[in-house]
Amino acid sequence: MNPLAGHRLGQGTWYMGEDPAHAQAEIGALQLGIDLGITLIDTAEMYGDGGAERIVGAAIAGRRDAVTIVSKVYPHNAGRDDVQRACERSLSRLGIDCIDLYLLHWRGNVPLAETLDGFAALQRAGKIRAFGVSNFDTADLQEARRLAGGEAIATNQVMYNLRRRGIEFDLLPWCRAHDVPVMAYSPLESDRREQRRMLAEPALVAVAERHGATPAQIALAWLFAQGVTAIPKAVQPAHVRANRAALDIRLTQEDLMALDAAFSPPRRAVPLEML
Ligand SMILES: NC(=O)c1ccc[n+]([C@@H]2O[C@H](COP(=O)([O-])OP(=O)(O)OC[C@H]3O[C@@H](n4cnc5c(N)ncnc54)[C@H](OP(=O)(O)O)[C@@H]3O)[C@@H](O)[C@H]2O)c1
Repeated sequence: MNPLAGHRLGQGTWYMGEDPAHAQAEIGALQLGIDLGITLIDTAEMYGDGGAERIVGAAIAGRRDAVTIVSKVYPHNAGRDDVQRACERSLSRLGIDCIDLYLLHWRGNVPLAETLDGFAALQRAGKIRAFGVSNFDTADLQEARRLAGGEAIATNQVMYNLRRRGIEFDLLPWCRAHDVPVMAYSPLESDRREQRRMLAEPALVAVAERHGATPAQIALAWLFAQGVTAIPKAVQPAHVRANRAALDIRLTQEDLMALDAAFSPPRRAVPLEML
């Protein structure tokens, strides 16, 4: 079964593990999320130079079976042999024996066939349960899909939110048609200024008022309505609680039309945006 099955919401960890002074708050936020049922956690060897994986390891200690862990390998570590070593390092930082879903963070210079071979070897060795990709546009996915192991790609994690809807033109339909679940990263806009701009949009504010919710919750509920898995990162406990509560919001056709009018869907193919 796909490790993402049943997970519409996860917890991101970018920028965690960078400052020891924040470690307790970060661990506490992830644990609060798990307690509230947000048991999918997204991390990467890149985040905090391994620091985020250590934070996740501390947060899940003693409750490994309750969580689903996604991590990512740097493109420059994604060679057939290098990826074995990178995965071992991630496992050790996470304090677990097996990563549920291991992704190529973005496409680099290592041939995809080699990375897929490396992922298959890790899977056979029981070090990862499933594998996937991130920041792949439609042509990359089509190419990967033709390679040995390509059909087993279990997700494509891409930037997707109300203000960045380019994937709706061809990537999202392609993923739906080929049963590749999409993980939406930066669902609330990573950058603070961009986030403020998105959350202040009058149509979004109006929908939020109708639901007695915050604009951020509506931005997440909108992603759930698209059938993708959103992975907001939240350290403030109030944010973690709000994100969990967003799962209970049901947007109406009227809400969706108002949001479409304010944040228009793409009318032509646009290159995939990435951070
Ligand atoms: N594959 C990739 O290339 C890639 C790229 C980027 C991100 N990601 C993954 O996706 C995750 C999420 O993306 P992101 O971290 O870039 O951006 P994001 O989750 O869209 O935004 C994070 C910001 O939103 C705030 N926030 C969280 N919940 C909120 C709420 N309910 N109301 C108001 N503000 C809220 C957070 O504040 P506090 O932390 O202060 O609570 C933080 O400042 C990352 O952490 C990472 O795991 C993957």
